Amino acid sequence: MTTLGTPLSPHATKVMLLGSGELGKEVLIALQRLGVETIAVDRYDNAPGQQVAHHARTITMSDPAQLKALIETERPHLVVPEIEAIATPMLEELEAAGTVRVIPTARAARLTMDREGIRVLAAETLGLPTSPYKFCNSLEELQAAIDAGNGKGVGYPCIVKPVMSSSGKGQSKIDGPADVAKAWDYAMAGGRVSHGRVIVEGFIDFDYEITQLTVRSVGADGQIVTHFCDPIGHVQVSGDYVESWQPHPMHPTALEKSRQIAKAVTDNLGEGFDGKPSGLGLFGVELFVKGDQVWFSEVSPRPHDTGLVTLCTQHQSEFELHARAILGLPVDTSLRNPGASAVIYGGVEAQGIVFDGVDEALAVPGTDLRLFGKPESFARRRMGVALARAADVDTARSNAKLAASKVRPRSV
Ligand SMILES: Nc1ncnc2c1ncn2[C@@H]1O[C@H](COP(=O)(O)OP(=O)(O)OP(=O)(O)O)[C@@H](O)[C@H]1O
Ligand SMILES: [Mg+2]
Repeated sequence: MTTLGTPLSPHATKVMLLGSGELGKEVLIALQRLGVETIAVDRYDNAPGQQVAHHARTITMSDPAQLKALIETERPHLVVPEIEAIATPMLEELEAAGTVRVIPTARAARLTMDREGIRVLAAETLGLPTSPYKFCNSLEELQAAIDAGNGKGVGYPCIVKPVMSSSGKGQSKIDGPADVAKAWDYAMAGGRVSHGRVIVEGFIDFDYEITQLTVRSVGADGQIVTHFCDPIGHVQVSGDYVESWQPHPMHPTALEKSRQIAKAVTDNLGEGFDGKPSGLGLFGVELFVKGDQVWFSEVSPRPHDTGLVTLCTQHQSEFELHARAILGLPVDTSLRNPGASAVIYGGVEAQGIVFDGVDEALAVPGTDLRLFGKPESFARRRMGVALARAADVDTARSNAKLAASKVRPRSV
């Protein structure tokens, strides 16, 4: 039996979000609707999620001492990481000491915080198909990894990414020897924590890529059940998502392979620190597909940016699914109607911008908007998203893009 409390009372059910951006904001709203007391943590004040939570806290989440002090003070029942740059070894310590439960597990948060932990797990431990790859600590190692003989080199074309980065930061494609030094320098400038390590991956010439949202929730018999959402198709520009839609049509063999990979990865990440099955919540499994061949790319143990589309396509969005699953509640992953999302970028560098044309955007049939409320805009910062539902994906995609184009961010 699951019992929930009353917020701001001695019997509140308390959940802390580590990272309170646009994805965290929607998880927080879903938790608020269930009467959960919420604590939104971010590295800067007035982050999107902090604007809708009971409590807002600003700390450096990669600092173990600050993280420990905050968790010990607030004593949440659950800690829900929303970003990767967190002092995850400290989360493992607090979880092992029984101080807090981490979603899905502290181990999953550690393994997915950089590209190395998850890639080694997927390719070497689980034997899943991935692009060929190597990790390198210098330009010389990078060149050697590409060139290695006996078919052991990654070869051209390939992609270089900082081990610690997201949203395509520091990531570039290498088409030939002339691009190698440039790609190395770009990765060094774009990594989140400058420890100078990169992954170089063979370029997969996929037909399309999908996000397979996968939910681990408690079933009727108390055992963990794995549920799959309909596949989400998306377009990435410079490693950052600009457009997504659901459902993405797939050959049954490719779909089955995708779900087998998603199940293998999430089963493993769901294992607790003592090896017991645990690890509740939603995961975004990124896959490349060519014909009926499928490659694992990476996984977020939390809602995925391309999954914003589920706000207009599913009975329960990925955020509601996450909130329900982590609380031990049943979930429904079924699709309601086709739909699409299109990102709205800031376009300008300014604080407290305004958005013109919101009325024109919402006049496009079947559309909705999320404006995230980020205090500061950058040219390539995601400030909002347009959503469109329609009878078919093509109509939804063009309406989402049209609505997004009507919203015009402006500095004042
Ligand atoms: N080996 C590869 N072959 C072909 N395309 C790739 C490869 N690796 C990455 N890409 C392309 O770049 C995109 C971003 O890559 P990846 O997901 O690894 O980066 P990321 O910085 O973690 O992005 P995000 O945080 O937005 O998921 C992929 O979705 C895909 O379109
Ligand atoms: Mg990705």
